[in-house]
Amino acid sequence: MTDILQLYPPSPQKLPLKHLYLSLNLHKQAAPSELLIYANYIASVDGRISLRDAESGEFMVPASIANKRDWRLYQELAAQADVMITSARYFRQLAKGKAQDLLPVGTSPEYADLANWRRQQGLNKQPDVVVISNSLDIPFEALAQLEDRRVIICTSEEANQQKINQLQSLGISVLIAGNQQVEGKRLKKLLIQQEYRSAYMIAGPEIHRTLLNAKVLDRLFLTSRLNLLAGDAFHTILNGDIQQPAELELLSLYLDKSSPLKQIFAQYTLTRTEK
Ligand SMILES: NC(=O)c1ccc[n+]([C@@H]2O[C@H](COP(=O)([O-])OP(=O)(O)OC[C@H]3O[C@@H](n4cnc5c(N)ncnc54)[C@H](OP(=O)(O)O)[C@@H]3O)[C@@H](O)[C@H]2O)c1
Repeated sequence: MTDILQLYPPSPQKLPLKHLYLSLNLHKQAAPSELLIYANYIASVDGRISLRDAESGEFMVPASIANKRDWRLYQELAAQADVMITSARYFRQLAKGKAQDLLPVGTSPEYADLANWRRQQGLNKQPDVVVISNSLDIPFEALAQLEDRRVIICTSEEANQQKINQLQSLGISVLIAGNQQVEGKRLKKLLIQQEYRSAYMIAGPEIHRTLLNAKVLDRLFLTSRLNLLAGDAFHTILNGDIQQPAELELLSLYLDKSSPLKQIFAQYTLTRTEK
């Protein structure tokens, strides 16, 4: 079904959802010895990416914005990644059975084309995973679910040495990428040393700020569900302070006209990204 309208660059063409982002070939966009880092969010028009669940007290992506069509694009972005960058919080939620999903690429038949595509492109079956954490409060049983790929934990010099030793004794790589916190530039350097060429950041506002402040984020994909949620306990795509506004240039904009769901898919490039 061709129910995607291309708004920018302006075009009269209607497109199918499938392969809308897969055709970007993000795994081949980095210059030699470089790394392309891209982030992706879904938000309501009033900017909520998560709301506190009244029952569990956990912050979660609200069901009123999460949807299968956006998830398809999330999967396509994952398919193009050598590595995914996520937070320790994700694994804490996974251990409680509250995470949105086990990290892609999805193994259900609807995503089989993505698994095939990765094989054709000579990519590993699944992207590796980098977990950013200072506390190293990461439930091992949740990490163990990713036995089919390499998992690296990135932390700072502040991290507890005993916890580092414990993780290493379980065969997990722990890398130091900052003094008090993980720093974006050191993280990028470490990822390049691991020979990654494309990194998909799927964490929330703090890791987003870490990358933006260091000017190492290259692209931002933002789905806006055309609804308003309100609520005072929420996350948006960025919090805290950044040293200066991050300027964005619009690369593409699509309107998803599928009924009854309405949303806009935007892709931006960060114009002051340092190489
Ligand atoms: N709608 C969407 O598209 C979307 C996307 C992503 C996330 N979310 C939601 O947003 C909420 C927040 O997500 P999140 O907690 O994953 O994101 P986050 O705010 O980026 O990460 C929080 C955790 O990451 C670690 N961290 C962040 N920056 C660090 C740094 N510079 N150095 C060391 N550690 C650092 C810390 O872990 P430690 O505490 O272990 O030190 C911190 O507690 C969640 O509810 C999630 O579901 C929504």
